[in-house]
Amino acid sequence: MDRRDVLKLLGLSPLAPAFDALGLDARALLDGAQTRPSPDVELALTAAPAELSVLKGAPTRVWRFTGRVVKGPPETLQAIPDSWLGPIIRLERGQRVRIRFRNQLDEPSIVHWHGLDVPELADGHPRLAVNGGREYVYDFEVTNRAGTYWYHPHPHQRTGAQVYQGLAGMLVVSDPEEKALGLPSGAGELVCVLQDRRFDADNQFMYASSVGGGMGMAGGRGMGGMGRGQGGRGMGMSGMAEMMQTMNGWLGDTVLVNGRLHPTVNVDRRTYRVRLLNGSNARIYKLAWSDDTPVTIIGSDGGLLERAREMQALTLAPGQRADVLLDLSDRAAGSELQLRSLAYPEAAVGRVGMMEATGPLPQGAPLTLMTLKVSNATGPRVRLPERLATPPAEWRVQPDAPVRRVSITFMQMNWLLGGRTFEMETVAPEETVAPGSTHVWEFRNEPNPMGMAMAHPVHLHGRQFRVLSRAGADGNALRDGISDSSANDTVLVLPGETVRVQVTFSTYPGLYLYHCHILEHEDMGMMRNFRIRA
Ligand code: C2O
Ligand code: CU
Ligand code: CU
Repeated sequence: MDRRDVLKLLGLSPLAPAFDALGLDARALLDGAQTRPSPDVELALTAAPAELSVLKGAPTRVWRFTGRVVKGPPETLQAIPDSWLGPIIRLERGQRVRIRFRNQLDEPSIVHWHGLDVPELADGHPRLAVNGGREYVYDFEVTNRAGTYWYHPHPHQRTGAQVYQGLAGMLVVSDPEEKALGLPSGAGELVCVLQDRRFDADNQFMYASSVGGGMGMAGGRGMGGMGRGQGGRGMGMSGMAEMMQTMNGWLGDTVLVNGRLHPTVNVDRRTYRVRLLNGSNARIYKLAWSDDTPVTIIGSDGGLLERAREMQALTLAPGQRADVLLDLSDRAAGSELQLRSLAYPEAAVGRVGMMEATGPLPQGAPLTLMTLKVSNATGPRVRLPERLATPPAEWRVQPDAPVRRVSITFMQMNWLLGGRTFEMETVAPEETVAPGSTHVWEFRNEPNPMGMAMAHPVHLHGRQFRVLSRAGADGNALRDGISDSSANDTVLVLPGETVRVQVTFSTYPGLYLYHCHILEHEDMGMMRNFRIRA
């Protein structure tokens, strides 16, 4: 334990001068910390390098979360075998949780619980990152609705690189309201994390070398630091091509599900609940079943929808989740069904830069992601009730909520939110809100003078919001796959589109983030703080 750790344990900002001013010694503070209410669940979570066999041939060097249940139900952690993904963390609404995160990388890191409404010091802001060999202790209560959330690192300018190297995991919350529905669980639940990667000839990940610090254009310092595959090397790419590809979000040429290439999953004749996460750095999927079975959506980022909704295809942008019901009860034994991403024109996502701006597998390329192979075993068929959940009152439209316009622009090789780039500790007056207050934020995705724009999945930390309206992207091929439900923490704003969301901010005061969830954009500064006043 060092001073920083002690302060964190106490819920004090390590940046606050209060510690020294008080003249207390660390021991006394530590003793004080031990009188805090003890958690219901305590987990140890470590980020460390590992080697895995991903493709045929040489193993791939990855970074991976591993975990251990220190206190609480052993099923709180569910490892995904042979995957770089971290264990699935299964929590119950109302639980008090402590997570001891240990950073065993040789660079700073910090973990963010994407979608959870937690106190400031449990949210994983980059200013709280800890060096390799250090620990950060999170304390929070699970107040979110049942749903599919996730966790990933959030260090300054290194989020994309660390997630790409393997650091990510699902976080599932359940609650009594959801349990009463009798949705498929256990063997009836499929978890699918979609991620794309580029591999070099030795099966090592290849990532851009130039993220952060202004992309090398504005005198940036190339980031690198991933051992192998530090961008351009061995990629046969010019620095300019790599930079443009990074500017548009780093795409892999191989798409994997739970870290497996085109997996075949043996399934029974029964109903499944499929929890989908787009954990890719930049790729947007338009998901569909191979035989035109409609995609039955029962939940989104923030939990169950009020009513199930059938769509032909579902647009899932980086950071977003979807809960899908799939009834295989009437399938023939031996039959197969594929999860696909449908072809769409690259222009639906858009890009900047004229030349070599697309990776080897552009946005919109058609993909077969996974095959479900039906056995002759049967299992329970689940019939959905008409009404799945009661939406929280805060999602009711509040016509008098103040509206803030947030432009999304590209200027001088920078992606900007509200005309600004990220500053570690700074918030503008319009980024300051009262605890529990309700606002409308209107995101306007404005093309640059050359008519170029990109789709950006905009994410707000903390509370789930409601998408009120969209305008300006009617002909876009991703538009009809967008399911704006009552609960989202990440919203895709298409090129030229204006999207309004209504958000009731948390009652926890402090500094939180909103940003584009194309992780290269985030790392390049397409991120801002907002402050909830005390
Ligand atoms: Cu999933 Cu601030 O991120
Ligand atoms: Cu988040
Ligand atoms: Cu973006």
